[in-house]
Amino acid sequence: MNISIKRTSPVNGASKMLKVVIDDSILSDMTVQNLLEYITCNVDPSLAYYCHSVCEHGVCKRCILKVNSKTVLACTTRVSSYSHLNIEPADVGDVVRDLVVCFKK
Ligand code: FES
Repeated sequence: MNISIKRTSPVNGASKMLKVVIDDSILSDMTVQNLLEYITCNVDPSLAYYCHSVCEHGVCKRCILKVNSKTVLACTTRVSSYSHLNIEPADVGDVVRDLVVCFKK
């Protein structure tokens, strides 16, 4: 599966896309949250996303992001629902870095 992840620099706000190809057999039964964990462990450990102090059960909403332009929760969205993934930060506040957003109050 082709995966693109929008990355944003915390220094100057510049954006670029991280492009990754991952074998479909690895992705079966993964959520988007699991995929981001996989990528940080196996591809790019500098990728920033919410992974600590989150519920992973669709309750806290900290893992909100956009997949293929649709706002979803990373912890409850199954990767197998898609043929490709374009992952971006959600439009819920200012981007701090990559997929981490400072939520508007
Ligand atoms: S981690 Fe809490 S809603 Fe996804």
